Amino acid sequence: MGFKEEIQRRRTFAIVSHPDAGKTTLTEKLLLFGGAIHVAGAVKSNKIKKTATSDFMEIERQRGISVATSVMGFEYQGTKINILDTPGHKDFAEDTFRTLTAVDSVIVVVDAAKGVEAQTEKLMKVCRMRKTPVIVFVNKIDREGKDPFDLLDEIEEQLKIKVRPLSWPVGMGKRLNSVYNLFDKKLYYFSAEDKTKIEEPISFKDLNDPAVDATINDFAEKLREDVELVDGVYPEFSNEEYLNAETAPVFFGSALYNFGVKELLESFIQIAPSPRPSEAIERTVDPNEEKFSGFIFKIHANMDPNHRDRLAFVKICSGTFKRNTNYLHVGMNRKLKFSSPTAFMAEKKSIVEEAYPGDIVGLHDTGNFKIGDTLTEGEIMNYKGLPSFSPEMFKYIENADPMKSKQLAKGIDQLMDEGVAQLFTLDMNGRKIIGCVGQLQFEVIEYRLLHEYGAKCRYEQATLHKACWVKANDTAEWEDFKRRKYKAVAKDKHGRYVYLAESAYDLQMAQSNFKSIEFYFTSEF
Ligand code: G4P
Repeated sequence: MGFKEEIQRRRTFAIVSHPDAGKTTLTEKLLLFGGAIHVAGAVKSNKIKKTATSDFMEIERQRGISVATSVMGFEYQGTKINILDTPGHKDFAEDTFRTLTAVDSVIVVVDAAKGVEAQTEKLMKVCRMRKTPVIVFVNKIDREGKDPFDLLDEIEEQLKIKVRPLSWPVGMGKRLNSVYNLFDKKLYYFSAEDKTKIEEPISFKDLNDPAVDATINDFAEKLREDVELVDGVYPEFSNEEYLNAETAPVFFGSALYNFGVKELLESFIQIAPSPRPSEAIERTVDPNEEKFSGFIFKIHANMDPNHRDRLAFVKICSGTFKRNTNYLHVGMNRKLKFSSPTAFMAEKKSIVEEAYPGDIVGLHDTGNFKIGDTLTEGEIMNYKGLPSFSPEMFKYIENADPMKSKQLAKGIDQLMDEGVAQLFTLDMNGRKIIGCVGQLQFEVIEYRLLHEYGAKCRYEQATLHKACWVKANDTAEWEDFKRRKYKAVAKDKHGRYVYLAESAYDLQMAQSNFKSIEFYFTSEF
């Protein structure tokens, strides 16, 4: 197979959802179709959600599992599918955001009863920023849920994207009868008896076919009405609008009952994009370019605390990646060679000789990589990452063991390179503040500093509202600001100035008193 065909047949995507909507279950069913796993329950993903916050062993165990499930590659009908796993726990939302930089499309799972939930909205924001094509899977229709039209309105409003249903539920909950595929005009029967069985669909010429009435009896009239309404309300599905991230096709199903999943997968293969061009600061890079390039979107620490070795995940953006070949680490301006790059197929990891755009390769790393680093064949260019978002919680981090200050500094440095949390250093005295999305992140940091670096830390509450990246347009006013707000001026890990506002009121005051300074909740603007 030629290089171009290899790229064309790849689909690299993530499944995202609010916890409990069914992301893990859906992932597992897709893997079952791909023959990548053989029994349900094989993927427990890196779910930490049901664990008590301080159950560290559980966190560690799950971190271990998540290496295996970080990327799940499999072949289906000649397509190479790469599913990138994302943590289910909301405290690790940043991890998920970063993973979204490495995918070409996304499947969003929405619970039919709960509708669009908070975490889904946040994730969609990132998809919109990057214009990532999105398919919505409305899950759990085997349970009583909201009316499908209401759900579509909710998705459209809250996820701020136009929708186009491509399948339609016939009945719901206890009365779930079937799903009608508006794309291929086939009816898929629901059977609650056997969760692994997939019924053969029934085709009709059109919905007025008397066979429809004979098949689904009482449901026929309602289905005809619904479909008429769907066709009246929603314009015809346009693949181009989907690829431009303007419209999200919507499917209905039940991941638990393996219902609607095959249609989702088969439509996905047809419509989802193969690897798309990637944006570097210097230029746009086409996947078909001959020369290899890629970026690190995730770093995974080794489970064994005696080995400081880590696995850096590189997304291949262009060209062919080859084992034992010198590549330029642009940030360090150093050539590196990888003797055992790892590919992820199904449940197995294996050393890979070559990989193509869309693929993810794990590189063993002893501390050279940071999230966002670019590798090339020699070109000086830097892939654009995702901006940092203001954290929600802040704590001073202090050394609790004076004998281990070096270890602590190194530990904090490396964990921040991994993207575990954000670090702000106060300008006035060099005090360090860790910013997180959730409490669990602080606990993981403390635990890992101790177990991997032998360093003890102590936290002290920092009552802060937001971290705002600043753009100073007037040097004199900026100097004045720094003087007057000296207690709240800090730098982020990249040396960018940040104003740590204590309250929304403080921020408002700063905005009105310093008109030439712009304040942003993200690090790029
Ligand atoms: P997540 O990864 O998005 O957090 O969700 P997950 O797949 O773990 O699903 C959350 C719960 O919802 C699980 O039940 C799962 O069995 C259930 N579920 C998923 N899809 C469906 C569906 O289509 N219909 C119904 N009725 N339930 C579904 P649990 O009891 O919390 O966990 P478990 O003990 O079954 O694993």
